[in-house]
Amino acid sequence: MKLFKYLKPYWFWAILSPLSMIGEVLADLWLPKLMSLMINEGVLKQNQEILVAIGLRMLLIVLLGGLSGSLCSVFASLASQNFACDLRKDVFKRAMGLSFQQTDKFTTGSLITRLTNDITQMQHFVEQCIRMFIRSGLMFLGGIIMMLSLESRFGLILLCSLPLQLLLMALVLKAANPLYAKVQKRLDAVNNVMQENVNGARMVKAYVQEEREVARFNEANDNLTDTNLRVAFIIARLSPVLSIIMNCSVVAILYLGGLQTMAGAMEVGTIMAAIDYNTRILHSVMMVSMMFQSIARGRASAKRLSEVLETEPAIKGGDYAPKTLGAITFEQVGFHYPGFEGRTVLKDLNLTVNPGENIAILGATGAGKSSLIHLITRFYDTTEGQITIGGKPIQDFDLTALRDKIAVVLQKSELFSGSVAENIRWGNPDATEEEIRRAAEIAQAAEFIEKMPDGYDSVIAEKGASLSGGQKQRLSIARALVRKPELLIFDDSTSALDLSTEGKLRRAIRQELKGTTLITVAQRIASVKDCDRIAVLEDGTLSAIGSHDELLKTSPVYQEIYRSQTKEGGMIDG
Ligand SMILES: Nc1ncnc2c1ncn2[C@@H]1O[C@H](COP(=O)(O)OP(=O)(O)O)[C@@H](O)[C@H]1O
Ligand SMILES: [Mg+2]
Repeated sequence: MKLFKYLKPYWFWAILSPLSMIGEVLADLWLPKLMSLMINEGVLKQNQEILVAIGLRMLLIVLLGGLSGSLCSVFASLASQNFACDLRKDVFKRAMGLSFQQTDKFTTGSLITRLTNDITQMQHFVEQCIRMFIRSGLMFLGGIIMMLSLESRFGLILLCSLPLQLLLMALVLKAANPLYAKVQKRLDAVNNVMQENVNGARMVKAYVQEEREVARFNEANDNLTDTNLRVAFIIARLSPVLSIIMNCSVVAILYLGGLQTMAGAMEVGTIMAAIDYNTRILHSVMMVSMMFQSIARGRASAKRLSEVLETEPAIKGGDYAPKTLGAITFEQVGFHYPGFEGRTVLKDLNLTVNPGENIAILGATGAGKSSLIHLITRFYDTTEGQITIGGKPIQDFDLTALRDKIAVVLQKSELFSGSVAENIRWGNPDATEEEIRRAAEIAQAAEFIEKMPDGYDSVIAEKGASLSGGQKQRLSIARALVRKPELLIFDDSTSALDLSTEGKLRRAIRQELKGTTLITVAQRIASVKDCDRIAVLEDGTLSAIGSHDELLKTSPVYQEIYRSQTKEGGMIDG
């Protein structure tokens, strides 16, 4: 298992733990011997001095054994918890680096299960290995030696009971092991439904779909329970049979020992010690079976974690990181989403966005506007043609360097729980208070922020639930502005603003952000008519480009859009 490299830094604990375990095992093995001595020499011969002496010794051994046992636990926890922590860190990092298509393929629910439950399984597995493997092995061997040292004929009993027990366990484990991967898969399904519903809680309520969603959840949940129960039922068969084997061997020891005692060759204490050793030996074998169980679980989880760790991000940057970006050029760009071959989103697109330009992309829903933006930020790669920035193919750019220079305001504003100021600062952690205020003013957000009870320190509920759509959009815009990007992209991000606020926002941006390249995606002509150029996107192709006045004169498509939007209520004069 490749994941063991995560244990390497903690090898010290991982070795110290079984070492201290040796103390506990030795104590456990020694105690029955002392007990038999106590009975044979102390109880049967009524010698109080020996009773006390041996009793004290046993007490001391119990204490020492307990101490080394708990040290072993501590070391094992140190090793396994740190192991899990490092592993979680790496899996999380890798999950964050995946491109959207890869995240979609894993599903969010599954990624969550992998990050939580699978890692916990691995942690249990490591802990079990460290603690139990050595313990059971030592106990098994030590127990057999001690038992034979009492009376070699007891070996016969072990010779019968041990193979029987091993066979039984092998059968049970063989039946249970394949189910563990299934359990994890079903857990994925539960998490998926849960995650979708937590995210879409409002929608579910609005459409009164709680019952259907609860039913969907119940199904996933029942499936999980089913599989878990199947595992449990299989494992449950073990214990009664093991207990029969155990008791039969106790009877056999009593019988053999009894015969010996009657012949005067053995004492009662020895029989008791033999029973004790026998129990410990069989018990250690059972521990090994439990360990195999957690190995099986760990294997299933390790495979799922490796899948994440070994997924190379589909979108990888180069190492070109220029100071400024330059003109962005689409050359014969064609695009469809991965897995949606045949559903062309963009086709034969040629477009140049010059530095400092204020350009608009106008089109109906589904025209491909957002997809075009996704290509500029390299959330996806073009499927035909290429995009160059400053003459260099976009693939050559370092991803961080590229995205650092771009700020995108998405139509659906994502806010985080925290204060208003924190949410804006998210765009640029180094922003000063003054810069945050300035950004809020340009974004036309200052007014409503100052009306909030604690101004910029007011806490926003999760996902901005306490704000209106327009307020959220303006905060998202402020967050983009504070980044001082070279390229600012508004993807339908003023759709929830009234026209007069939008107009003020556009004027403020034009005054304050001279030199910034601005791409405005919109459906309303009113939002874009002041832009230097307007590119009209229709079903993924560029049907016209020019200023508002030019297009009004030359483009029938634009004229048609204009007519329909003015007819709808004179929206153009924002
Ligand atoms: N993640 C996706 N996977 C597959 N198809 C998508 C995805 N996102 C958008 N599409 C499809 O791409 C087309 C263009 O979508 P989009 O670029 O969002 O349009 P717009 O932003 O102009 O409304 C639509 O037909 C949509 O169904
Ligand atoms: Mg869109």
